[in-house]
Amino acid sequence: MEFSPSIVGVFDSGVGGMSVLSAIRKRMPNLDVIYVGDNVRAPYGNRTEEEVKQYTKEILRFLQRKGCTHFVSACNSISALVTQEILDELGIKASQYVDMVQPTKKYVTNAHIGRLLVLATVLTTKSKVYEAHLSPLVGEYVGIGEPNLARQIEFNEGKEEIRETISSFFTTQKGMPHATLLLSCTHYPLVRHVFEEEGSGFPIDIVDPSEYVAQEVEIMVDDTNGRGTTLLCMTRESETMSKLTHELGVDGYTIVSL
Ligand code: DGL
Repeated sequence: MEFSPSIVGVFDSGVGGMSVLSAIRKRMPNLDVIYVGDNVRAPYGNRTEEEVKQYTKEILRFLQRKGCTHFVSACNSISALVTQEILDELGIKASQYVDMVQPTKKYVTNAHIGRLLVLATVLTTKSKVYEAHLSPLVGEYVGIGEPNLARQIEFNEGKEEIRETISSFFTTQKGMPHATLLLSCTHYPLVRHVFEEEGSGFPIDIVDPSEYVAQEVEIMVDDTNGRGTTLLCMTRESETMSKLTHELGVDGYTIVSL
């Protein structure tokens, strides 16, 4: 008997979740994936909780209509707000859903971190979800809400502007003791090289949680019978997405309405 393959819906406010999708793809080449980036309404990190919850339901319903069997919130701002109550409303079980928070917590639990910097959107930082989960696990917890970087990356606002934002962040860390920096917005790993360059003189280890998210996806679904297809959907045209499709070896992306 052949089992019907799983289809995994990966979603974000825009292109950020592509950093998570790349990590998943490296581990699971046969997985069938539908990606949604809601760039019409990005950035989510400066929106209200209610708006983001509503948009998330719309994305999840879209992915359900497309036949997705499992779901990955590749967005920290969404992950900070989506509760099991929202998933219940949509008929999604905890076993069908992976977010950013739990894998990040698993990583921090095992990492023995002294000083932890969690750089995220304003919404994620305000939610205090990471603070609640991670501060008991580390020596010192510092949450930083960054209002501009996700937008600058999403809309390709210019290399210099992006570098300036990242460099200003590191300036706040001058003279501080050794720390681990979590890139807790999935847009940030897309410019990891800039973080590495600007942070090179600082005693700071940079960590992208995507790898830990991908490990959880591997536990959640079996891709043995999959075909390795990738369907990329955006809610409007995106120069940044066009560039990323090449890196992922995918032909292009489709514009959809949710
Ligand atoms: N990539 C998202 C995150 O991980 C959201 C960025 C945004 O739209 O503000 O938080």
